Amino acid sequence: MSAEFAAPKGVPDYFPPASADFLAVRNALTDAAHRAGYGHIELPIFEDTALFARGVGESTDVVSKEMYTFADRGGRSVTLRPEGTAGVMRAVIQHGLDRGQLPVKVCYAGPFFRYERPQAGRYRQLQQVGVEAIGVDDPALDAEVIAVADEGYRRLGLSGYRLELTSLGDDTCRPRYREALQEFLLGLDLDEATRERARINPLRVLDDKRPEIKEATATAPLMIDYLSDSAGEHFAQVRRHLDRLGVPYELNPRLVRGLDYYTKTTFEFVHDGLGAQSGIGGGGRYDGLMAAIGGKQELSGIGFGIGVDRTVLALAAENVSVAGEGRVQVFGVPLGAAAKDELVALAGRLREHGVSVDLAYGDRGLKGAMKAADRSGARLALVLGENELADGTIEIKDLADGQQTKVALDGIVAEVRARLNLG
Ligand code: HAM
Repeated sequence: MSAEFAAPKGVPDYFPPASADFLAVRNALTDAAHRAGYGHIELPIFEDTALFARGVGESTDVVSKEMYTFADRGGRSVTLRPEGTAGVMRAVIQHGLDRGQLPVKVCYAGPFFRYERPQAGRYRQLQQVGVEAIGVDDPALDAEVIAVADEGYRRLGLSGYRLELTSLGDDTCRPRYREALQEFLLGLDLDEATRERARINPLRVLDDKRPEIKEATATAPLMIDYLSDSAGEHFAQVRRHLDRLGVPYELNPRLVRGLDYYTKTTFEFVHDGLGAQSGIGGGGRYDGLMAAIGGKQELSGIGFGIGVDRTVLALAAENVSVAGEGRVQVFGVPLGAAAKDELVALAGRLREHGVSVDLAYGDRGLKGAMKAADRSGARLALVLGENELADGTIEIKDLADGQQTKVALDGIVAEVRARLNLG
């Protein structure tokens, strides 16, 4: 039977048991950020369309082709946020956070929306964990941001990824490079649309995936060879800090990001087990964003966005399991009505003592209830029948090794906590 409704195309649902992986990944990534002093920020899901057009850049695919833009009932053009950095900068300016202690360090997690062609690892509603550190242009901060992402992945047990790094230069060297690249590109035999792109945003052409364009641009000039002394020094410092932090990286001078605001340090985490959608996270520094969206100061920022969905897929590709924390620890199996009364109350007491508990509901009988206990992934089953009730005991079964023991019902909370090493 086909259902009348389905979620919109390219929009995933997250439900048990797989949703436990999703939560574990999101929590590990936000924990890594909190450990480095990034405070939680929760921002609107939709914003003024112009914020993204000006912040992210009109000529990017994200703005020109992928935004969910609509007029609200008051006729204002609003857009479901395609990314998080522009919204964070808007909030920093609006609330004057830049007049407080700098850098402003914030971390966010939630859904973002891009009208892309759905495929494995590419969704129209995607989930990111991101951080932004705004107001201090210090290469040590660039290294910290990168190290926080790396630490998040590593804590999850992910290993088959690499960090690609480059510098996109600053105001003093970018225009010179842009000119050189433009001259190179306009000297090639390109189709009219690509020539137009070369005129508006030449860097975008280096990101073209068509083999003939890739080949034609193989010898294009590279930003890294045009860095000013100060941008070059900034980049050298970032690398030195990463070396000392023990974060491995590869230089990729052809790295092009899909958003226009990047300057100086720019990076991407790539996982080779994911096929075409291999970018599991990325970010960089942005010097001009604040001014572009109307800030009075011109404060630089740096941040990353990590794709939670792709990180979950990358862990699955490496056969790493992370979902431990979402599972129940104890599963109650009542045999008969009186036993159920007792177990319902006991489940409440165990939960008060920090143990996660589920019960076999409905009258399933011993076999069905034990099957449910096994499926739950719990460590322990508590089996209570008429006989145990009569003599004030309960059966406790270790579901890993099958060992079953009878213990006193009034000492069960302490017994369960001890078995689960909860002290
Ligand atoms: P981004 O590279 O566009 O950067 O997105 C960050 C990550 O989100 C990607 O590396 C990828 O893992 C994930 N992602 C993007 N699009 C999709 C999709 N359609 N389906 C699934 N996952 C996706 C940004 O958004 C910047 N705001 C990052 C940043 C923060 N830069 C500085 N600060």
